[in-house]
Amino acid sequence: MQLSSLTKDKRNLLASMSLEEKLGQLTMIRPDAAEVRKARAGSILDLQEPGSIHKLQEVAVSGTRLGIPLLFALDVLHGYGTTFPVPLAEAAAMDPALWEATARAAARETAAAGIALTFAPMLDVARDPRWGRIVESPGEDPWLASRFAEAKVRGFQGVALAGSSAIAACAKHFVAYGAVTAGREYAPVDVSNRTLHEVHLPPFAAAVEAGVATVMPAFTDLAGVPMTIHKGLLRDWLRVRHGFDGVIVSDFNAIAELISHGVAADIVEAAALALNAGVDIDMASGAYLAGLPEALSRGLVPEADIDAAVMRVLDLKARLGLFEQPFAREDAMRPGDRQSHRDLAREAARKSVVLLQNRGGVLPLAKPVRLLVAGPLADAAGEMLGPWHAAGQAGEAVSYLQGLRRALPDWDIAHFEDFAAAGAREAAGNADVLLLCLGETAAMSGEAGSRAKPDLPDGQAALLKEASSFGKPIAVVLTSGRPVMEPFLFEAADAVLAAWFPGSEAGNALADILTGKANPCGKLPVTWPAEIGQIPIFHAQRPTGRPASELRESSKYLDASVAPLFPFGHGLSYTQFAYGGLRVSPEAVGPEARISVEAEVENLGPAAGEETAFLFIRDVTASVTRPLLELRGLAKIKLDPGQKGTVRFELGAGDLAFPDEDGSPRLEAGAFEILVGPGADKSGLLCHTISLALPKSSAPS
Ligand code: BGC
Repeated sequence: MQLSSLTKDKRNLLASMSLEEKLGQLTMIRPDAAEVRKARAGSILDLQEPGSIHKLQEVAVSGTRLGIPLLFALDVLHGYGTTFPVPLAEAAAMDPALWEATARAAARETAAAGIALTFAPMLDVARDPRWGRIVESPGEDPWLASRFAEAKVRGFQGVALAGSSAIAACAKHFVAYGAVTAGREYAPVDVSNRTLHEVHLPPFAAAVEAGVATVMPAFTDLAGVPMTIHKGLLRDWLRVRHGFDGVIVSDFNAIAELISHGVAADIVEAAALALNAGVDIDMASGAYLAGLPEALSRGLVPEADIDAAVMRVLDLKARLGLFEQPFAREDAMRPGDRQSHRDLAREAARKSVVLLQNRGGVLPLAKPVRLLVAGPLADAAGEMLGPWHAAGQAGEAVSYLQGLRRALPDWDIAHFEDFAAAGAREAAGNADVLLLCLGETAAMSGEAGSRAKPDLPDGQAALLKEASSFGKPIAVVLTSGRPVMEPFLFEAADAVLAAWFPGSEAGNALADILTGKANPCGKLPVTWPAEIGQIPIFHAQRPTGRPASELRESSKYLDASVAPLFPFGHGLSYTQFAYGGLRVSPEAVGPEARISVEAEVENLGPAAGEETAFLFIRDVTASVTRPLLELRGLAKIKLDPGQKGTVRFELGAGDLAFPDEDGSPRLEAGAFEILVGPGADKSGLLCHTISLALPKSSAPS
């Protein structure tokens, strides 16, 4: 075994490989030592236990002819052992530094286990709460998703992939998976080029710009072309236009599924189509091993393309330092990291909670109260972890009830699953506040978790109805992977906290919020529909010639409002913030201008708090209709009661551009509204209009 000399030169290594060994490098499988021994696998997914990873790596490096190390991959979306809030929840924190920090922590734990690749971040802009995978997404907004992409890539990959705590990230699912028809999992996708370039591609461009090591095409098709074989997007857009030279890894069994899509007659054609489109690694379908030898002899693929794909895989392994150190990075975790990751998980959970409503200031519960805690999610530690919780263990998670009891030993906390339980009605009668823990279990969202009726499941509305018969204040902690549409919830509950799936520290974070030790500051990264029939509803909708009005012939419903229940950016606090003094300069801008935007924010309420201010633009008149609001910035400010401060943003003229149908930025002269405020409800935004002038030569035709 001449591993060290061979690895010095990947080209020599490639030249020494048989066709089957090459195809092995392009094949990712679930753990199977026999296949590894035959060099028929180059990467392994779904193995998370460090001992088993070590053993299998031994087989690869010591038990195969060339000793090429395996690349271990896992879905570490929101933590490895320590589980952070699900991505949709973290998006609500509106905090790039936090997004990066949780990815960094997750990378440390993952690298320490011997895993070198995570299938994250998931960057599918999602505007349909029926789709279960909205929980994995950064929400509805492309600008926000792009910031999320950069932060996550930086966090996972660190400064250099070879660093002991770095893991390779994977931007997925490329692209527009979030637009599946009717929110139905794996369903066809058909979006216009404009929407593709304006909404779905930007987060992937941002991930590539941030140096993401791998990309995964979506299972779905786009206007008839399955993404796994989409040459126009995988080769032309991703590799050529955006210079992505990393590894493209198919989704699970996606190459074989090309036959079900009806674009390949057999596994040979399927394998050839995927390779020709630029897919380097075949995840779990076995199509490359089974199909590419025949595809070569039929002349469907050039051998040079196989070699190029193998080189990209070897290159990734080399960049990760796997040839030098194929085993777990024991130094990835520093002393104290376990505890600091738990602390970070608690902070992230606190910042992700969105206070949706708080009638009569029911929350916080500042002094000891008699609390009755009920509902199926009150003591469900495992459910707190949400989908894709990697190595997260239910036993290490803190349920809401556990957290409250631990944090509040002086409080009188009674717990009943429901009001049929013995003593429950009496306890409810004696309680000061009823805290209902309602919502979805982890399995109700995530992959294959589409719901046609994303309401409160399993008779929970009845439980709430019963609770309301006691005439006590009701606070609901809503656990879910999506906006839940249940009008009665918002009628019956005085306070509603959207907790999403908060992760390992759920109960501790809830105790912090309920008691006012932490002031909620999360803001919705998705519009919360009032009715299922409004879907898709999002803040960046384009105008119509007949906007909703009292006229029948206007863009509205006969039987429902067009307004969402809560707009994008909604999120209350235990204090109130007021906005004023918007200043934008200069007022007349040219193509090179930097635009400075400032506004005053004042804390008018009784508590210290943190506010996220949003900056939107509106292109008033353009050659095509432009969205009513386009997010272009966010700024955070912490204020004590009575304190006033300034939020600042900076825009370039490029932020006023929009992509044309092939994705090139188009800057058009004219008026632009600059809007600043607490969320995407236009009536609450300060607005100032500026004008962009372009020299004749730079004005597009
Ligand atoms: C999912 C991917 C995931 C992969 C590997 C697929 O079913 O669509 O998001 O990374 O499985 O677990």
